[in-house]
Amino acid sequence: MTHWLYVNGKFVDRDEPCISVFDHGFLYGDGIFEGIRAYNKRIFKFDEHIDRLHNSARAIDLTIPMTKDELKARIIELCRKNEIENGYIRPIITRGKGDLGLDPRRCEKATVVIVAQPFDPLYGDAYQKGLTVVTTCWRRNPPQCVNPNIKSLNYLNNVLARIEANQRDADEALFLDNEGYVSEASADNFFIILDEVVITPPSVTNLRGITRATALEIAKEKGWETAIHVFTLFDVYAAKECFITGTAAEIGPVVEVDGRKIDNGKPGPKTIELMKTYKDLVNSTGTPIYE
Ligand SMILES: Cc1ncc(COP(=O)(O)O)c(C=O)c1O
Repeated sequence: MTHWLYVNGKFVDRDEPCISVFDHGFLYGDGIFEGIRAYNKRIFKFDEHIDRLHNSARAIDLTIPMTKDELKARIIELCRKNEIENGYIRPIITRGKGDLGLDPRRCEKATVVIVAQPFDPLYGDAYQKGLTVVTTCWRRNPPQCVNPNIKSLNYLNNVLARIEANQRDADEALFLDNEGYVSEASADNFFIILDEVVITPPSVTNLRGITRATALEIAKEKGWETAIHVFTLFDVYAAKECFITGTAAEIGPVVEVDGRKIDNGKPGPKTIELMKTYKDLVNSTGTPIYE
C-alpha cells in the first residue's frame, strides 16, 4: 500500500491530479524539498532533515504553512497510511499557485506535498564492486547564483550532470566548482582518503549533506583523522579510497574516476568499514513511525 500522497492538508491517491499547472514550483522550480529515509519502521535523522528544509525555506524567503512538529506529524501519518517500514520520504514545498508572472506575491499560499514510498538500494550490486564516476563538464552552481546549500527544486544543473554520467556510462557525475576544486557528485557528497585522512570539500560549494556529517562523525569515532578542505582531481586520482555519501546512495565506494582506477580498483577497507557502521546506525536509530 503505497498509494497515498499528502497534498495541502489532504491525503490523495498518488494517481490523482492534484497540483495546479500554475504552481510556481512547476513553472519556475520555485520551491524546496528534502529526501529522507525510513529504516526498520524508524525515520533516520528526522530533525536534521526538517531543520534543513526550514533553512532552505528561509533562504528563498518562503513560509512553510505549518510548524516543524506539524510537518513531522503529517509525515508520520502518511508513512503509517502507506505502511512504510523501509522507505523514502520526500516533503516538497513550493511557492504555491500563482499566475504566469514570476512575482511570488501572486502566490497566496505555499503548496505542501509529501511522498512516502518503499525504496530499494540505489546502486543494487554496485556497492560490492564499487561505483564509476566521471567529472562532468558542468560546474556546480556557485554560492553567487542559486546557493548549493539550498535544497531547491532547481536541479537542472544536477540533471545535466546526471545525463552526462549516463552518456559516458558511469554511475555518478562529479562536479568541480568554479575554481576547479572538487565540489560534490550530482546527488551526493564526495570524499577521498589520502595519506590515511578522510577528506571532504568545505560545504560552501555543495549541499550540507546529512550523510556527509554522519560519515565524518563515524570516522572520528573510529579515531581516524578527518579534514574539510579543498582538493583537486589530482588528489582524487592519487587517493587510496574514494566514496560518495547521500540519503539515497548511503555510503557508496568509488573505484574509478575518469577512467582511472582508484588504488587497486576495489572498494577500500575504510570505506567498507564506514558502510558497515552506517548500516548498523540507520537500522538501530531514528524516530519511530508506529509508536
Ligand atoms: C546535490 C546533493 N548533494 C548531496 C546530497 C546528499 O545529502 P544528504 O546526505 O543530506 O542526503 C544530496 C541529496 O540529498 C544532493 O541532492
